[in-house]
Amino acid sequence: MNKIALGVASSISIYKAADIIRLFQKEDLAVRVIMTEKATRFIQPDFFTALSGEETIVNLFDRRQRPIEHIALADEISLLLIAPATANIIAKLASGLADDFLSTFYLAVKSPVLIAPAMNEAMFLHPQTQANIKKLRDNGVEFVEPEAGYLACGQTGGGRLASPEKIVQTSLRLIRRQPVFKDKLIVVTAGPTRESLDPVRFLSNRSSGKMGYELARQAYQLGAEVVLIKGPVELEPPTGVKVETVVSSEEMRQAVFKYYDQASVVIMSAAVSDFRFRQTSLKKIRKEKLTLNLELERTPDILEELGHLKRGQLLVGFAAETADLKTRASDKMKRKKLDLIVANDVSREDIGFGRDENEVYLFWPDGRERLIGKTSKRKVSQEILTEIGAMLNERKGNN
Ligand SMILES: Cc1cc2nc3c(=O)[nH]c(=O)nc-3n(C[C@H](O)[C@H](O)[C@H](O)COP(=O)(O)O)c2cc1C
Repeated sequence: MNKIALGVASSISIYKAADIIRLFQKEDLAVRVIMTEKATRFIQPDFFTALSGEETIVNLFDRRQRPIEHIALADEISLLLIAPATANIIAKLASGLADDFLSTFYLAVKSPVLIAPAMNEAMFLHPQTQANIKKLRDNGVEFVEPEAGYLACGQTGGGRLASPEKIVQTSLRLIRRQPVFKDKLIVVTAGPTRESLDPVRFLSNRSSGKMGYELARQAYQLGAEVVLIKGPVELEPPTGVKVETVVSSEEMRQAVFKYYDQASVVIMSAAVSDFRFRQTSLKKIRKEKLTLNLELERTPDILEELGHLKRGQLLVGFAAETADLKTRASDKMKRKKLDLIVANDVSREDIGFGRDENEVYLFWPDGRERLIGKTSKRKVSQEILTEIGAMLNERKGNN
């Protein structure tokens, strides 16, 4: 099912529901909006009808809807999200009151329910509101915690609606989570590393980190616990993912090993520098003192080390090649004891480094291979994680 029911109550943050709809649509999910009667005091239902492309529902007894719309719609959705949720709608749902479409619909829904509260801090912290939230949580309802910040009442404090991005990412996790990823730690590395010569000069590469960020985002949506270890890139970190920022290859190595024992899967998509300067300086080296032959040394091969110390972890490597893709990637996979290698041709201008699209080959140790044709890095990540899910399931079956 590719439909979300979005309940919208009469909070001043109601305008953010428009962004929520747009973000769902970007994920190919249709949205059916349900407004409380009082929410229509702020925004006309036609606004949401135009945005969502479907008639907004307000009243239980509406001749334009199917005769028992609240039951019919309940069977068509994969999630009921209420954002923004007022103190009032939370109280109504907690007590099982069903006196309008949204509260009646809630009782008919069998899919997951996610609530994003938005209200003044005192209203949110009121023991009655907290008790209502607890009751709903005990009944299996999930919440997106409100954030601290400027509130429409002129005060600063907790109670502000979480960001549309966070609400949608949390929703996607509820829709897409798979049992095989539950309680599994997935470590993803992303971006380049930077090897300093002195405080102002360094050796690095063109990795943008986009592929690793997408992999982390998708792993979170599938229900895993995710740690993203990233080199110096300035992308917005994905919701729900623990981020560790590192600079050099040695820092990346230490960060990966910090999590290695607990990890079920390690995806090394970072472009770790192969070389670093043999001699470095804590002070800027004066131009006149710089020799023209700077000496380099190899950095530790993190992937190879991980391969040799593997104790049941599923190890996924990346190979960026400009020629002989299959031979070189397969060699690397065997040498480093990987369970899967993702290879891409970085000589192509239209894919790979810095681009939003990629085309990759997957190679397995048993000789199996698969091409994921040119598509967005988001879709490529989804496909890679589907394969990882299948491998985890296979392992479970073998144990
Ligand atoms: C301008 C204005 C802004 C409001 N913002 C909020 C809000 O952010 N959160 C909230 O819980 N109530 C807010 N209220 C109060 C609710 O609108 C009120 O409790 C209403 O009865 C809730 O009805 P509903 O849950 O059916 O939409 C606001 C009221 C007004 C007049």
